[in-house]
Amino acid sequence: AARTLAAFRSAVAAQADSAAHAGSVARAGSAAEAPAGSDSGAAGSGDTPRVPDVTIYYAAKAFLSAEVARWMIDEGLNIDVCSGGELALALAAGAPAARLGFHGNNKSLAEIERAVAAGIGTIVLDSLEEIERVAEASARHGRRQGVRLRVNSGVHAHTHEFLATSHEDQKFGLPLTDTAAAVAQIRSHDSLDFRGLHCHIGSQIFDASGFGESAARLLVAHRELLEGGPVPELNLGGGFGIAYTTADDPQPIEQIAAGIADAVFRAAADLGVEVPNLAFEPGRSIIGPAGMTLYTVGTRKDVQVAGDDGSSSVRRYLSVDGGMSDNARPALYGADYSVRLANRVSDAPAALVRLAGKHCESGDIVVNADFLPGDAASGDIVAVPATGAYCWSLASNYNYLGRPAVVAVVDGTARVIVRGETEAELLARDAGLDAR
Ligand code: LLP
Repeated sequence: AARTLAAFRSAVAAQADSAAHAGSVARAGSAAEAPAGSDSGAAGSGDTPRVPDVTIYYAAKAFLSAEVARWMIDEGLNIDVCSGGELALALAAGAPAARLGFHGNNKSLAEIERAVAAGIGTIVLDSLEEIERVAEASARHGRRQGVRLRVNSGVHAHTHEFLATSHEDQKFGLPLTDTAAAVAQIRSHDSLDFRGLHCHIGSQIFDASGFGESAARLLVAHRELLEGGPVPELNLGGGFGIAYTTADDPQPIEQIAAGIADAVFRAAADLGVEVPNLAFEPGRSIIGPAGMTLYTVGTRKDVQVAGDDGSSSVRRYLSVDGGMSDNARPALYGADYSVRLANRVSDAPAALVRLAGKHCESGDIVVNADFLPGDAASGDIVAVPATGAYCWSLASNYNYLGRPAVVAVVDGTARVIVRGETEAELLARDAGLDAR
């Protein structure tokens, strides 16, 4: 988390510095060439370049627990929540309401009420109806609620189509062409404080260019909005990709940050507009690589598989004590993972395996194909890395499995930060068992 914040802050500072050296309009070299982390004045000019602020909202949907919320706050991040439940947990964990942002395309009246009453920092408005709902709640509480408007820049992230959220035919936000009217509507309410535009172009994106293109389009709208009042901020969403298998080769966050900062400053210079404060909302890139899932192998099967050419081979299935209830991503998105033997060292020659879950679906696969020592078998513990994001948070009780515990390892010490669900807890929800 801290590394992400530092990466964006220093990339933006470097751009501000090099823009100051080059004059306010002509653009200087890339962030990589500029002195990183410098916010000193342009040499000789006596001018101190204005360094736009960077705020990082940790996207809690990727994974949220009280401990994680506190770590994010302690590391200087804000938190983006997208339901009353995530809001309640972040507040209960002690996160200051002013450092929370609230997303969602269908926030209920009760959720809006709760967020406004708590004094939430910003609400991301996702529809024209919501402008009125938030304005009303805010007026009733005598507040001037910070809001952003979610728009679609029309940039299609190069990713699985379910994960790309900034093309036009979709449920989130408003088309960029509706921006002026929507912001005029926001500004007509004294109870709303318009902070700027928001756009999230998708998730698991490896290339900074999509963010740059999106920023350039948003800045055109941003410039028009400046004619009607201040627009202090631009929020470019999250979506930075991580490595799930060796086939994935994401750029380090420093490089992504440098690429985005470069594109933003370039676009702003072209448009003759001051670079606003910037905000980002990464979830996966912060928490994904931090988590791994431990499973116990239960059964091993070697299955004869017939090839199209009449040949035959053997596929080894290792089945574990979890699966699509703790990691729905393979079934939902065709995601793939890798696996390692975790409980012992083995010199046995490697064997190709498929790691399967225990659920009653043939699509319940955790790892499609990876190598494990050939003697890996029942009783062994295997680790599946990079499961920190969108695994536990998407977990279900399919087949009446309890959701697993989450254990944090900090400086070599392990402790439970989310208890596993017990069978008794699952049964306790069944009203048909009451008074029996
Ligand atoms: N901001 C907004 C408005 C979002 O909708 C999302 C993710 C994020 C930020 C954080 O994106 P991230 O940095 O984590 O990629 N379940 C899917 C991903 C769904 C993403 C939903 N929105 C998966 O497992 O791949």
